[in-house]
This record gives sequence, structure tokens and C-alpha cells, in this order.
Amino acid sequence: MEQMVPDGPMDDEFSTLPRWTADAVEALGPEHAVPAACRGSGTPEALRWLCRTMALRAGARLLDSGAGEGGPAELAAREVGVSPTLVDPMPGACAAARRMFHRPTLVADGGRLPFRDDAFDAAWSIGVLCTVPDKGLVLSELHRVVRPRGAVGLLVFVRTVDVLPEVPEGNDFPDRGELRKLAEGARLSTLEEAALADFPDPDPGWQQHADAVEAAIEAAHHDDDRFRAAQEQQRIIGRLLAEGLVEGRLLVARAT
Ligand SMILES: C[S@@+](CC[C@H](N)C(=O)[O-])C[C@H]1O[C@@H](n2cnc3c(N)ncnc32)[C@H](O)[C@@H]1O
Repeated sequence: MEQMVPDGPMDDEFSTLPRWTADAVEALGPEHAVPAACRGSGTPEALRWLCRTMALRAGARLLDSGAGEGGPAELAAREVGVSPTLVDPMPGACAAARRMFHRPTLVADGGRLPFRDDAFDAAWSIGVLCTVPDKGLVLSELHRVVRPRGAVGLLVFVRTVDVLPEVPEGNDFPDRGELRKLAEGARLSTLEEAALADFPDPDPGWQQHADAVEAAIEAAHHDDDRFRAAQEQQRIIGRLLAEGLVEGRLLVARAT
């Protein structure tokens, strides 16, 4: 089976940067952790919509596949009381999540989850699919590990045009039709869909915490090639979103 662990600039973005984030949070204070660790997840209001629409409840076993630094799962744990398990193929991301949030965290590929069938009440995967070559496999694995009729939540960046002028290395954006087919192929029937852009920006306090961490990382690592490589990845996705060539779509589906 194909191994789907990111490398190159994605390694800088998804493994090195998370370590630096955890360092900065340690220096600045724990109130910075969740805002700084929601990398790629858009906004807190979008995450709250996922929690509501997935009908997450206190005590629910939630798998976060491609959890990164763990911010989204932590928000759900603190605000709803879910019991999260975090999985990411990047050791640096997992180490950072463990340092900041102390939740069960495993280094694993979303296409080969180390869990038995029906192990979770719900699962989500946020900002992950566009970085994965075999998207169908990651979706099938979410279906497999969620109990029958359990909710699966996704944030997926989709392309709105046939050809993009540039693409962050290692990324591959489906269009909305392809995404729908992929979900159907994994026996995930879509219940609700929303556009990330329709949710409000984070409040100023959240943004200040995230910005302070960014600034601390830049101050410490601005002349490091890995910092520049990670920034270039983020510049490209930022441009695609700003020009409307790529948009974030939130989906809630049920495992059938
Ligand atoms: C844009 S980040 C999003 C992180 C986190 N979900 C969030 O929203 O803050 C994308 C994440 O997908 C992870 N990823 C890449 N390939 C993966 C795979 N095959 N299975 C699971 N996760 C993967 C990366 O390591 C990275 O942490």
C-alpha cells in the first residue's frame, strides 16, 4: 500500500513548524495554544458549526485524523467535552500536540488507521484531504473506524477552476463534484454543507494570540530555510483563497 507521509516543504510546514509553535506557546503562555494550534482549520466559528452539526456531546469519542498541532480537537474537548484522539503522520506535529494538550496522540497515516472498526462515535479531518494523494482511502478509513450512523466532519479545500496558476507543493485540490464522489465512494452520505468563507473571522483576542505566536516563530527562525519553505507554502494557499480559486467547504456526513 502507498505510504502517504508528507516530505519536503510539507515536512517543514507540518513537522518543523509545529515544534516551533509549541516552543513559542511555552514561552508566551498556554492561552496561546488553541489559537496557534488551529493550523489550517479556518476559524473557531467553523469548528463550532462542525461540533453542532455533528451533534457532538460530552464524552463522545472523537477521532481527529490529520490533527496537526491539535487545536481543533482541543477546542471540541474544552467547549463540548468530547474525548479526543489525535492522529497525524508527522512526528513533529504529534510531539507539539502532546506538549500543548496532553491528549492521546498517535503518529499514523490517515489511510491506515491503527484502530479497530467502530472504535469512535465520530471523526473529523480538517484541512487534510488536499495534502493526501489517496483521498478515498482516508475517507474509507474514517468510515471504518466510526460506529454505524456516526458523524464524519470534513473541512476540504476545493478548487473552483479547472487549472490553478500555482499549487503548494504536495497539494492536490479536488473540485466539489470530485469531493462529492469521493465521499459517496467511501459510503459517507452528506447531510450538511457550508462554505468556510461564510463564517465570521476569529475574534480579536483569538487573532492576537495566534499572531503573537507567529511573530515569535518568525523572530526566532526567519533566516532558517525551513521557515522560508513553510512560509512559501502558506503564501501560495493564501493567494489561492484570496483570489477565490480555492475555497474551504465544510461537510458533515453520516457513515452508512
Ligand atoms: C493543514 S494541516 C491541518 C492540521 C489540523 N487538522 C488543523 O486543522 O489545524 C494538514 C495536516 O494533514 C496532515 N496529513 C498529511 N498527510 C496525511 C495523511 N496521509 N493522513 C493523515 N494526515 C495527514 C499533515 O501532517 C498536517 O498536519
